[in-house]
Formats: sequence, C-alpha cells, structure tokens
Amino acid sequence: MSFFSEIESGEPVEMYKLKKAYLEDTFEKKVFLSFGAYRSDEGKPWVLPVVRSLEKILSHDESLNKEYLPTLGLETFSTSATTMLLGLDSPAIIQKRYCGIQSISGTGSLRIGAEFLANMGKKIFYVPNPTWENHKRLFLQAGFEECREYRYWNPTTHRLDFEGLIDDLDKAPQDAVVILHVCAHNPTGADPTPEQWNKIANVVHKRMLFPFFDCAYQGFVTGNVIDDAYSVRLFVSLGFELFCAQSFSKNFGLYNERIGNLTIVVNNPDVIPAIKSQITYIVNGMYFNPPGLCARIVTYVLNNSTMYNQWQDNVRSMSSRLLLMRKQLKEILDHLETPGNWNHLVEHSGFFSYTGLTPIQVEYMVNKYHIYMLTSGRMSITGLNSNNVYYVAKAICEAVSLFPQIL
Ligand SMILES: Cc1ncc(COP(=O)(O)O)c(C=O)c1O
Repeated sequence: MSFFSEIESGEPVEMYKLKKAYLEDTFEKKVFLSFGAYRSDEGKPWVLPVVRSLEKILSHDESLNKEYLPTLGLETFSTSATTMLLGLDSPAIIQKRYCGIQSISGTGSLRIGAEFLANMGKKIFYVPNPTWENHKRLFLQAGFEECREYRYWNPTTHRLDFEGLIDDLDKAPQDAVVILHVCAHNPTGADPTPEQWNKIANVVHKRMLFPFFDCAYQGFVTGNVIDDAYSVRLFVSLGFELFCAQSFSKNFGLYNERIGNLTIVVNNPDVIPAIKSQITYIVNGMYFNPPGLCARIVTYVLNNSTMYNQWQDNVRSMSSRLLLMRKQLKEILDHLETPGNWNHLVEHSGFFSYTGLTPIQVEYMVNKYHIYMLTSGRMSITGLNSNNVYYVAKAICEAVSLFPQIL
C-alpha cells in the first residue's frame, strides 16, 4: 500500500490535450490555432531583437551578480512598470499613492494580489463569462470562497454583451472583487469602448466593488502601450483604489522568464508600508523572491529612450502582423462566400477571437483539415500566417457550409 495509491488524476485541460494531438500529428499542413504565445509569419517563436541585444549587454556586465533579489523584487523595475501602466502624469504617481511589486509574471501578480485580498476578508470575486481559464482556480486557490460570473459575450452578435455586463455588476454585492481585462480580452478579443468603460466605472463605484485589472496584452490592440492602458488609467483618474496585474510575457516575449508586476493604487499613501509588509509575508511563504535577469531587461528598456523606441517598434510589428492576419482571413472568407458575417474578426483585437464556430464545426476542421482549435471556437490569431491563412479560411468555409449553425 502506497501513500499515493488512492490518488485520482486532476481535471484534464483541453488545451494540453489539443497540443499533444497536434504535436503527434504527422500531417504536413497541420495548423495549431491555440497558441498562447506570439508566432512569426514563419510560424516560429520570436525573441524580440531588443531583448536579444540586452541579454548580450547584461551578460558582459561584471557589476551584476546572481544574489537573491529583495522579496518584493527590484524597486526600479516595479516603479518603471507601474509608470508604464499608469503614465508619468497619473495622479496616483504624482501623489505617490501607489506601489509596485515584482512578481512571477501576470499569474504570480494575480495570485499574490488575490491572496492579499482574501486575507483582508474578501470572499466573492466576479469574472467575465468567458474569461482566461486560470482566473477561477487562481482566486479560489488564493482563498476566495465564491466565483460569480458577469455576462460578457453575446454569441449571436459575436460582440460584447454590454447590457448583460452592466446588469450583472449592478447586482453584485458590495465589496466583491471584480476582475476586468485591461485590453485584448482573452478569450473573446472583444473590449468595451471608452464610453462603455465610463459606464463600467460608474457601476463599479455605485456597487462599491473592488476593481482588479488584468493586463496581459498591453500594446496588442493599438500597437501603442499608452493607448492600450486606457481602462486602468481612466479608473485611476476617477479616484478608484485598485490592483492591476501586469504581464511582460507577451509584449516583451519573455514568456518563460516569468516577469510581471502587481500595481497597487490607494487613496492614502500612509497605508503602503503595511500593504508591502503583508505581501512580503505572502511572497516569503510562496516563492521567497522573484527572478533577476528578466527584471533587469524590462527596467533597462523602460528607462533608455533608444531601447524603448526599439521595443515599441517590436511591439508594433507583432500587433500589426496580427491585424493583417485578421484582415486577410476575413477577406478570404468573404471571397469564398462563406455563410455568415465575419466582420467581428477584424473588430476584435489582440491574440484571440471567439470566431463563433461551433464544436461540431471545430471537430470537422480538426479531423478533416488537421486544424487544431479549442471547441469554444476560440482562435489564436498568432497561429495564422501567410502560408496557412487561405487553407484555414477554406476549412472554415467548408465546415460552416456543411454544418450550418442553428440559432
Ligand atoms: C488574460 C490573461 N491574464 C494573465 C495571463 C498570465 O500570463 P503570464 O503569467 O505568462 O504573465 C494570461 C496568459 O495567457 C492571460 O491570457
């Protein structure tokens, strides 16, 4: 009898199954449309040139060592990251009503923020339906007791269900935490407009909810990190206290380096030392301290105008390739006279789109065309490139024609 003999497998994750099937598939024209990471037009991972050159510079810098970083990370990093998010002219920055905490990418920043809030007595959190699949388990594992959903997606229009969203948040109990995607919503690709963000801020204020922003795709909507931070900057300008988990996985391509920042905005700066001491306690018991090289890379770029401009060019080149793929896919679908309206593909932004394809259509595409997508119909645009976009469009056209959606 072993201690482990009674153990049962955890819930299978659809994405891992899909990836395994894709890797084992020997068909030459196979396509993977579930990447959570950027791919070049050659279908390859892309190390940003600015990151490559900095790695060389830093590896020759004899003044750097591999000592532990402080528990809350490099302060120059977290200050620079928070400034990039909120802007130098942000009232929170000017009035020093903020702190930043370097953490293990976006996920780690969400996790330490969630655990802090749960320790402070928060029990209920709201996520958009649908949302990034990790949000629920992450907040529950951090100590929250109940996950509720607010409506986000209208499957008929393939757009945001704004009325549903407001209606659900308007019924939320006072003090609940509400997760809001800053931009490039994962998985739908649909974001609120500036006017809608104003209305969301009104309801969050009215119901006294605590906003916890998740910023994983800053730069991927407009190609400009300033414009993409509109929502969180608006909330700060309106005087909200808030958390925002920032990820540098996508916009720096530093996926496996695990670099992120938890920005905390408060009304009274006097509370910051106590907040930091509580988070120090959480981090000490979880991973002790964060990694160094990636923090130095991001700090260097954010504080050096030449490197910063190169980085902006790199972000623009990624976001414009995704925009081009959206445009081409829609044009080919229209050209093939594919049943349905595909405008939403170009109205959505970022890495993903909820295409509206049904599970049976997706299954057909996997089996007949070896095109791997989640059954939700979420397409990762980064998997498209000039070599496969026509092939994918043709498969969609055939699947939609053979299995019309009954609404
Ligand atoms: C919405 C969202 N939040 C957070 C993350 C976390 O990413 P990371 O931990 O790599 O920063 C992701 C990753 O895909 C995401 O899509």
